[in-house]
Amino acid sequence: MKRNQSKNKAVLFLVATAIVVLAIYLVFKFDKQLLDLLSSRMAGLSFNPKTIIGVLQLILFATLAYLIVRALNTAVFGLVRLRRDFEAPTLVRNIFSIIAFTALFFIIFTQIFPDVNLGALFTTSAIFGVILGLALQDTLGNFFAGISLQADRPFQVGDVITVGSQQNTGVVEEITWRAVKIRTFQNHVVLISNSTAAKEPIEVGPRDNLNARLVFFNTLYTDSPAKTIHVVREAVREADNVSQKIAPVVRIRNLGESAVEYEVKYWLDDYAKYNDTDALVRQRIWYAFRRNDLSFAYPTRTLLVARRPKTSGGDAAPIVERLAAVDIFAPLSTEETTMLAQAATSHVFAPGETVIRAGDPGSSMFVVHNGRVAVQLNENGRPRTVATLSEGAFFGEMALFTGEPRTASIVALEETEVLEIGHQAMKLVFDANPDLVESLSHIITERLQALAASEDQGATDSDESAGLLSAIKRFFGLS
Ligand code: CMP
Repeated sequence: MKRNQSKNKAVLFLVATAIVVLAIYLVFKFDKQLLDLLSSRMAGLSFNPKTIIGVLQLILFATLAYLIVRALNTAVFGLVRLRRDFEAPTLVRNIFSIIAFTALFFIIFTQIFPDVNLGALFTTSAIFGVILGLALQDTLGNFFAGISLQADRPFQVGDVITVGSQQNTGVVEEITWRAVKIRTFQNHVVLISNSTAAKEPIEVGPRDNLNARLVFFNTLYTDSPAKTIHVVREAVREADNVSQKIAPVVRIRNLGESAVEYEVKYWLDDYAKYNDTDALVRQRIWYAFRRNDLSFAYPTRTLLVARRPKTSGGDAAPIVERLAAVDIFAPLSTEETTMLAQAATSHVFAPGETVIRAGDPGSSMFVVHNGRVAVQLNENGRPRTVATLSEGAFFGEMALFTGEPRTASIVALEETEVLEIGHQAMKLVFDANPDLVESLSHIITERLQALAASEDQGATDSDESAGLLSAIKRFFGLS
């Protein structure tokens, strides 16, 4: 599309140049005939036919000069773009054209009318000066403010700026000789005249800078600040577009009337997307609060709100049903499954959140109650999914049963509710069902083999299952 446009422009330029050159040629070739014609037609009038022909020549040459300046402009700034990979601002290009054209016009004028002193004409014509000054007052103001903006460069194309009392905020798209063009976050274009931009205070978020944002939230006075700060920092640091270069800072900004008021300060990779990132940060805080039993403060309701029971919804029946359907718990009696369900804690994760991080220590296992998770290995700093687990599947058993660090990371693929079962509850289950250890050790061996295969380490040997069995027994103090 752009290529086609440039082609059309080039053709148009060549045609226009050819027409003007032809017109100049004709005027020079037939100047005698033209002079005679004008003399006969204008007999009796006070006009000098020579002046008319001069003006005609001036117009034609000035048009040619304009075309030449356009071509020069394209060539010079095209070359700069190619060589330096730098797009010159529109204002600079326009100034170049104006100066080049004025110079050419002076030369042409003095060649055609050598007797007229153009400089004196301009300087001595006071009326001309006053008219021009009044008519161009705003335009010239914008023009010179534009020059000072270009020289000073307080912001550039791509930066996010907020201008003046109107608080116009958007991404700078262009700085012309008249105005600064910004695209707001509602995708509107706002033009701020250069003289306004030069006068008003401007807040700039440079594109190539690590810019920060503040997001506010609050908690009940009963929630621990240390826990809140840790939970929010961890929830925010992994959100999209939050820079990994600086860890987010969470701090108490006020001990308010009915809430502890916090702010989280985070840095963005792409500042122009701060609206989306602010929203994502708030969403992550909401989910982290829910998982960690923290509460937002609502002044009118604080005294009425009851703490949520640990298991989801307070009704254990769906959890008993879920656990009974997990293959490794199939041998358990209804009482044992109910006991396990009562010991289980429900957690909800947002899409993209990490449930378990590879290498961390772990002393609990999880059953997927709702949703889906991915089992991921780290490959040269990038996650690779080796398996996906959906409702009824379990994970985290390896670290729980062997005491080793987590072998893989588990990441929620959608909003996912997991049931966490701790070491103590599993020990009770094992005590009552020693056979369970054996079927679990088989599953762990199979998963370890799958991990080893995907890490290209070759399969683990068959003695491993037996080794695991005794390791688990030892870990749980079983005979
Ligand atoms: P754990 O090592 O405690 O933490 C990561 C978990 O990922 C691990 O326990 C297993 O539950 C699970 N996991 C590892 N490999 C696989 C696999 N190949 N298939 C399914 N789950 C796996």
